[in-house]
Amino acid sequence: MAIDQPATRPANPRFSSGPCAKPPVFSLDKLAGAALGRSHRAKVGKDKLKAAIETTREVLGVPAEYRIGIVPASDTGAVEMAMWSLLGARPATMIAWESFGAGWVTDAVKQLKIEAEVKTAEYGQIVDFAEVDFNSDVVFTWNGTTSGVRVPNGDLIPADREGLTICDATSAAFAQDLPWDKLDVTTFSWQKVMGGEAAHGMLILSPRAVARLESYTPAWPLPKIFRLTKGGKLIEGIFEGATINTPSMLAVEDYLLALDWAQAIGGLPALMKRADANAQAIFDFCAERDWIDNLAEDPATRSNTSVCLKFTDDRIADGAAFAKAVAKRLEAEGVALDIGAYRDAPAGLRIWCGATVETADIEAMLPWLDWAFHAEIDAQAQAA
Ligand SMILES: Cc1ncc(COP(=O)(O)O)c(C=O)c1O
Repeated sequence: MAIDQPATRPANPRFSSGPCAKPPVFSLDKLAGAALGRSHRAKVGKDKLKAAIETTREVLGVPAEYRIGIVPASDTGAVEMAMWSLLGARPATMIAWESFGAGWVTDAVKQLKIEAEVKTAEYGQIVDFAEVDFNSDVVFTWNGTTSGVRVPNGDLIPADREGLTICDATSAAFAQDLPWDKLDVTTFSWQKVMGGEAAHGMLILSPRAVARLESYTPAWPLPKIFRLTKGGKLIEGIFEGATINTPSMLAVEDYLLALDWAQAIGGLPALMKRADANAQAIFDFCAERDWIDNLAEDPATRSNTSVCLKFTDDRIADGAAFAKAVAKRLEAEGVALDIGAYRDAPAGLRIWCGATVETADIEAMLPWLDWAFHAEIDAQAQAA
């Protein structure tokens, strides 16, 4: 039965999973201090790039002996660079439980053609890390953005592994605890939990990853954009703000603003708390209804950033059409933008709950989801 439209709307209806909502304090005029029209190799530019690296280290608690670099092509660039530079030295295990992880599997198997064991799980599930050989190089995604399934913790990754772990953490960094001692390569983009801009990737390397880079030369050629070493030595400049090619100083300023905000609200614990509260509001909403559920089957693996939902009502005739129609109604009302499930994922909704999203906005949006669901059930019945 149809229900009335809620009286209030979210102040910010932006729940896209990337680019994600800007930090609550954001306004364009706050970027006025950007080093625009200046060389990124001049002191002013270099200092800002260095500040982006060092503040990232502070907020994420990255150990001093790990390198942090700003690299081209967003998270994809950082992951590709790591795979093309490091894989092939020993057998690999490629793990995927959703679309982005599956993309990395394809690259290793079909492009690099390395010896790899492939382990996959269906949307909603996760690969059992107890079954993974960490003496091989292991490539995986910490938070599967398209399924809303995350690694609960790093306990099953042995500290004394022989292989490297290469982790795409783009929708986890700044919202979930990343165990640095278990991660040799970690990547993310500014456009996710920090609400920054895309185009630049972050590449974090453990000392073991650096040792591999300095002792192993892949069999394939590496384009300049991927090259992290010169004459068998790490190019240290990349990890001090001397980027491989020209970065956007406007995007750098925007990231510095987001980091500033993160520090002002209490750093990583505060960011994680915000994401947790956002996701919990949705979990509670689902628990009270029998027509919607989390796509993640095991509660321990439920993402607190990319929360993926499925409709479970028997009356729904065409799941994909129904989910699309609900998302369309919410968008048309201006209460939730970009919340349709990812194109390769099962039909449903995906609501971004990262730190830049206000819990009050999630809470104001959810009654609208109730409204849109019932309106669509009615519309479907009338059409039948
Ligand atoms: C898990 C994961 N990996 C990689 C990407 C690609 O990121 P980018 O477009 O920033 O390169 C995304 C984007 O949503 C993602 O969620």
